[in-house]
Amino acid sequence: MIYAVTFNPSWDVVMTLPTTLYSGHTYNQVSWTGYAGGKGNNVARAIQQLGGDVTAVGFYGGAVGDWILQALTAQQIPYLVATTTESSRLCLSLLDSQHVTEIRGHGPWVSPETSHSLLCQVRDHLQPHDWVTISGSLPPGLSADDITLWVNTLRPHCQGIIADLAGDPLIAAWEAGVSAICPNRQEYDQLPMGALSPRPQHRVITQGADGVLWYPAESDTPQTIRAPAVPVQNPVGAGDVLVGALVHALSQQQSWADALGYAVMAASASVVTAGIADIDRDVLVHLESQWRQSHT
Ligand SMILES: Nc1ncnc2c1ncn2[C@@H]1O[C@H](COP(=O)(O)OP(=O)(O)OP(=O)(O)O)[C@@H](O)[C@H]1O
Ligand SMILES: [Mg+2]
Repeated sequence: MIYAVTFNPSWDVVMTLPTTLYSGHTYNQVSWTGYAGGKGNNVARAIQQLGGDVTAVGFYGGAVGDWILQALTAQQIPYLVATTTESSRLCLSLLDSQHVTEIRGHGPWVSPETSHSLLCQVRDHLQPHDWVTISGSLPPGLSADDITLWVNTLRPHCQGIIADLAGDPLIAAWEAGVSAICPNRQEYDQLPMGALSPRPQHRVITQGADGVLWYPAESDTPQTIRAPAVPVQNPVGAGDVLVGALVHALSQQQSWADALGYAVMAASASVVTAGIADIDRDVLVHLESQWRQSHT
């Protein structure tokens, strides 16, 4: 089982405008789709589409929280939750003919007791061969110290933890001994010099259309895994698909090199769809076979 943690879940609405977006204008009859969002839920959706066993983990509150959980249920993704007093948040992606505009609401306050109760639930479910992913922003009330606590508590009970975080929480996850961090290029470059102490853990830096720069745990020599050229519709959530595909492949005992190759192909097969972290299966089959041919 893979436990995909989302500290700050959201109801993600994608609206597709037939024209250019101008601020101050009104757009009627716009087509839209709602998703169980927050990065960990995108990871969970990716794993589910790839045929893996995944449980979504997160804090939920209010009617928006109920929508998100209903969407997870509709996708047959089981979940472990702790309840917040304030409502879960809402995020909006506006796709127009040229750009993606993202508007993100703020999440509910999470108390130390709420965090602790969810952490204990996950710890009690974990089996030694399970994996954990921790993704996205932290809601009000949680800090990098909570990441340290979560990683220290869960690490001895599972196969490994993959962290897709930014700033101090990313540093905390690294120092607490996650198997890998998966920031994007901007998040990685924003870390202060020397913030990550030398450790035998993987650094996977995603670089959009340029693919991935991978510093393997056992060496300081980075390797590039190029992304294939594909027609892009919506790149939002590609990093989450990468994390989901990576942990899915690792949970099936693939090597890190093979798992990362597969993850880059899966991520690229998600940018061709309009949805968030929706993988085009036909495109993935094609990209994966091309990649395997060039690596045998
Ligand atoms: N334009 C693109 N063409 C092909 N592949 C892409 C493109 N953009 C992203 N990808 C694939 O998705 C992976 C992750 O992309 P990116 O670095 O944009 O993640 P991210 O910034 O974390 O995204 P998000 O936070 O929205 O999930 C890349 O390594 C690549 O494999
Ligand atoms: Mg990302």
